[in-house]
Amino acid sequence: MVTPTQGDPDRALVRLSLDERSYDIHITTGEVSRFAECLIGSIPDLSHAIVVADQAVSDLADQIAAGLESQESGIRASRRDVPSGEPSKSIEQFESLLQWILSVGGDRRSVVVAVGGGVIGDLAGFVAASFARGIRLVQVPTTLLSMVDSSVGGKTGVNLPAAKNMVGAFWQPSLVLIDTEVMSTLPQRSYLSGLAEVIKYGVIDDSPFFAWLESNATALVDRNGIALQHAIERSCRSKARVVAEDERETTGRRAILNYGHTFAHAIEANAGYGKLLHGEAVAIGMQMAAQLAVRLQMADSTLLQRQTELIEACQLPTRYDGADPDKMIPVMMRDKKVAYGKLRFVLPTEIGVVELVGGIDEADVRAAIESAS
Ligand code: GLY
Repeated sequence: MVTPTQGDPDRALVRLSLDERSYDIHITTGEVSRFAECLIGSIPDLSHAIVVADQAVSDLADQIAAGLESQESGIRASRRDVPSGEPSKSIEQFESLLQWILSVGGDRRSVVVAVGGGVIGDLAGFVAASFARGIRLVQVPTTLLSMVDSSVGGKTGVNLPAAKNMVGAFWQPSLVLIDTEVMSTLPQRSYLSGLAEVIKYGVIDDSPFFAWLESNATALVDRNGIALQHAIERSCRSKARVVAEDERETTGRRAILNYGHTFAHAIEANAGYGKLLHGEAVAIGMQMAAQLAVRLQMADSTLLQRQTELIEACQLPTRYDGADPDKMIPVMMRDKKVAYGKLRFVLPTEIGVVELVGGIDEADVRAAIESAS
C-alpha cells in the first residue's frame, strides 16, 4: 500500500533557490497537455521557443510546440530531433544545433526547451549556455534518471571522444517541467535504473525518505503514480537543497551527489560502456561505497543491510560478477573528482548522512570492490 502524502496528489512544486537564478520544478501526473500553458505563464516575454527533443519522444515535443503556437500569443516554435543515445552528446551535434538555431532566426530572447533524458538535457542545455553567450533554458525530462538528477542543478555539456562530460558549463534552467506519465513508454529496465538515484537521496540526505522507500519499493517498481510523484518530489527537494548550498561544486557539498559514482564510472568502464545501465552501475557502486564505510568502521553493518535490501526490492543489481580492481582502480584515479592524486569517496556514516573521505588505502578500496563482485 502506498503511504498517502500531504497536499495535492497530482502536483508538487519544488523551488531551487539561487538568488536571481532561482527556478521552479513542477512535478505533475497527467498534465502534459498543460505544459505549453505553464511555459507561457512561467517564462516572461516568450516569443520564440527552440524545442529540441530526443527522437524517441518526438511526439511529446511536437505537442508542446503546437501548444505554444496555438495559444494566440504570437509565439513561434522551431523543432528539431536528435538521435537517441550517448553519441549525440558530441561537439558535432552541439555545433549542428547552434548552426540550426541561427538558421531559424534564434536570438538572445529565444528559449531552448529540452525534451528527453540526460543526453538531450546536457546537450541542449550546453547549446542554451553557449548561443549568443547564453539564452534561457527549460528542461522537460522524460526518463526517471533525468527527472531526479540531470535536469535539475545546471550541469550541461558534451563528451570528447576520450572523456565523458569534459566540455560544458553550469547553466541553470529557468523552469523544469516533470510529468510522471511521459514515462509510460520508458522500458522497465531504464525506469528501474532511475530508482538507483532515488535511493541515493535517501542515503545521502533524507533518512525518513529512505524509510518511506523501504515501505513503498513495490509500488515504485509497479510505477504507482502517487508513489512515483512523491519519490520524484523528495529526490528533487534533496537535489535542490544540495545545489543551492554549492552550485559549482566548490565546497565539497555538491560532491555528495556522487555517492557510489566513483565506483560506478569504473564499473561502467570495466564492463564496457552500454553493458550496464548507469543506474545499475550506481546501485553496485553504492554497495561498494557502503562496504568501504563498514570496513573503515565509519558505519555499522545494518546500514549496508538496509541498503542491500532496498536495492534488491527495487530489482536492481547489488554486485557485478566481473568487477576487477586491477581494471577499476586506474579508471578511478582518472576520475575528475580525484584531488592531488588521492582517491576521495562519499561514504555514509548513517542513513541520511555522508562524508567526503580522502586518503583511503588502496587495499581497502580493493576489498570493497571484491566484496560486491
Ligand atoms: N549529478 C551530480 C550533480 O548534478 O552534481
